[in-house]
Amino acid sequence: MDAALTYVSIALSAYPLVICAMRYTINEMCYSKHESPLPYVASANGLLAYVTFRGGSLTTLALGMLLTAITYRFQVIGPVPEDEDMTGKVCIVTGSSSGIGQSTAEALVRMGAHVILACRSEKKALQARSEILARCPNGKGKAEFMPLDLASFASVRAFARAFEALGLPLHVLVNNAGVMQHERLLTADGYEMTLQANYLGHFLLTQLLLPALKRTNGGARIVNISSSMHWGERRFNFEDMQGERRYSMFGAYEQSKLAQLLSTMELDRRLSGQGVTVNAVHPGTVITNVTSGFHPLVRIGERFTTPLQYAFRKPRDAGAYTAVYCAVSPEVQSMSGKYFWHCREEMRSPLVDDRETQRKLWEVTEQIVAKSASAPR
Ligand SMILES: NC(=O)c1ccc[n+]([C@@H]2O[C@H](COP(=O)([O-])OP(=O)(O)OC[C@H]3O[C@@H](n4cnc5c(N)ncnc54)[C@H](OP(=O)(O)O)[C@@H]3O)[C@@H](O)[C@H]2O)c1
Repeated sequence: MDAALTYVSIALSAYPLVICAMRYTINEMCYSKHESPLPYVASANGLLAYVTFRGGSLTTLALGMLLTAITYRFQVIGPVPEDEDMTGKVCIVTGSSSGIGQSTAEALVRMGAHVILACRSEKKALQARSEILARCPNGKGKAEFMPLDLASFASVRAFARAFEALGLPLHVLVNNAGVMQHERLLTADGYEMTLQANYLGHFLLTQLLLPALKRTNGGARIVNISSSMHWGERRFNFEDMQGERRYSMFGAYEQSKLAQLLSTMELDRRLSGQGVTVNAVHPGTVITNVTSGFHPLVRIGERFTTPLQYAFRKPRDAGAYTAVYCAVSPEVQSMSGKYFWHCREEMRSPLVDDRETQRKLWEVTEQIVAKSASAPR
């Protein structure tokens, strides 16, 4: 028993060490300008854990987990300085009724921006709006709800028309909304839910908002909230994009996030020289409602492990740091076609840079959204 506990403790303590080693060894080779004390913190943690755990007991297991959690917390880079002045700037954040989107919207409001909460549920959005305004007592910014269901092309088009009618410029578009579904669901448009809500809906929204982004003085930014889970796919599965032959929650999610990254890179090339940048972000592993579409049994298990989740997943404000950084930081102003994590450029899967897949996916997506324009409402 003691030996087992010792091994579990060491494995837990080694977890951040492995993550740090992977991230920083590979990254340092690619981006040597980045200096970080984190590998040393993780190594010290690993060494300390090894020395401490040789005895092996419940106390050492608890201590090991504590050390691991502390090291993980060191990996949360932030908070993002909120001294950028966003007064007079208009931002749209999709899916800002909870989680990372709500925290991103809140940071932008605090900096003085006029933020459109583009959400599918009015009730949840208004609740989020009150929470945001209560946490931004400086009264500089503004938050406004506008209905948007990304799983409906008609709703995306109605949103774009309503925004256009406001006659506002658009400085920042944060494509954040996302779902994970344990069972295969179809949208009213007939597409697999994860693909449409995470990717197709945002693709159409971005296309429709490009004129507003392009006419913004001083440049505009698109920030796509992606996920490191795009690494899970070995190829983009054009033959079964809708998961008709084989569906899995993680497979559908990974594919949707890979699609989002591929189109980020294609859009970057297409926008070159037009004053609009587009970048993608991995927010980290964050405590949000993203697991609400998991299997009910998994949800029950999740409830039992809640204290552990707090140790190993970021709070939602920290999950928003990189999105906010990409949306406002002058350091990112001229950067485009990049993938960020922890407020710095991160390695992406080599698949993302395959030009042929980018082009093919763009064409397939254009055909899908074009078909929706002529569909009866
Ligand atoms: N949490 C993580 O660890 C993690 C890791 C990597 C990437 N991400 C990504 O981060 C983004 C934000 O997720 P989160 O973690 O903050 O989860 P969340 O708390 O569940 O937030 C997701 C948001 O998207 C909205 N949404 C879902 N389907 C929509 C639709 N069809 N139309 C409009 N809005 C819709 C939700 O609205 P309702 O409130 O109405 O449901 C909610 O506001 C997602 O793209 C997710 O894939 C999260």
